[in-house]
Amino acid sequence: MSELTPDLLRELVAEARLAPSVHNIQPTRWRLLGDGRLALVDATAVRAPVADPAGHDVLVSHGAALEGMSLALNRRGLAITAMTTIEQTLSPQFAALCSFAIRQGVAPDPLAGHVAHRMSWRGKFVASPDDPAPLVQLAVARDDLICICHRQAIAEIAGWADQAEFSFVHGDDYRAELLDWMRLSPSHPHYLLDGLNRDALAMSAVEATAARFVLGSLFRPLDRLGLAAALLADRAKTASASAIVLFCRPVGEDPLTTGRHFYRSWLEIDRAGLVACPISALADHPEFNDRLRKLGKVGADLRLVNVFRVGRPAKPLKPRHYRLPVDRLIV
Ligand SMILES: Cc1cc2nc3c(=O)[nH]c(=O)nc-3n(C[C@H](O)[C@H](O)[C@H](O)COP(=O)(O)O)c2cc1C
Repeated sequence: MSELTPDLLRELVAEARLAPSVHNIQPTRWRLLGDGRLALVDATAVRAPVADPAGHDVLVSHGAALEGMSLALNRRGLAITAMTTIEQTLSPQFAALCSFAIRQGVAPDPLAGHVAHRMSWRGKFVASPDDPAPLVQLAVARDDLICICHRQAIAEIAGWADQAEFSFVHGDDYRAELLDWMRLSPSHPHYLLDGLNRDALAMSAVEATAARFVLGSLFRPLDRLGLAAALLADRAKTASASAIVLFCRPVGEDPLTTGRHFYRSWLEIDRAGLVACPISALADHPEFNDRLRKLGKVGADLRLVNVFRVGRPAKPLKPRHYRLPVDRLIV
């Protein structure tokens, strides 16, 4: 077994925090236990209860953070071992979900080098003549990814994505929660820390101001005029993707494990030289989930957990991550 020093723990957490989380809420904390084990701790108040009523996306986010920790350890020749589930309340704000020891001696993980480069790409994609090659590489690397590459199917799914998203956005609570996690002006005190800021959302200052009104006070009047859906549409971006990728995992799988694979899939997309953004609404909406399952011929033993739009970025990627400081993540 290997011992974690406070300095090493800070380095590890700095890398583990680059994992994706729903709405960038960052629910994961870490605690070094008295016996030298490390616990993954849930910050129980950090939630998006309207978008994620079952808490599944929070657990998937924890799983991604756990994989982030595993990859940070891997870069140092270390690995997670003797993992146990604990589910123990530590305080009104924190509950430990699992703990593990750390061992030495592990083969380098080819995905570890992609952690700092991966990010959500919310801009347009460009076509490239060698498009099929990276998608084939992706499908070969992971049997939980189904790539839909037909242009006509992608265009149709782009329409479904807008319909699914709009059906959720129509709810007042949903919009209020989304706006609460959005940081549409750099003057927001959390702009660089958490949530979805306008840089991450690939919005100009004007677009961000418009979004504030369209999702806020003007939504109902615009909706009555039949304009809200068109103003919020993301169809053109989705339709410019090289592929729609279905992320499917075994029915009944522990969501922490699902989250680990979700992150690894996204890193694999990065390794293939592509960028991606999830479209959770397509998986969360029962009707569109069903349509996609049929289109992708997803087996009955698999759950369609999420959907990525994947392609080549229209502009060079400048990886950036808006995250809480390490000190706040070690509790
Ligand atoms: C479970 C889960 C669901 C997500 N769903 C969406 C989504 O529907 N739309 C979206 O734009 N981003 C989605 N994301 C991406 C997060 O918003 C993103 O990871 C977070 O803002 C951190 O930014 P980064 O990925 O650039 O590091 C999701 C992430 C996770 C973990």
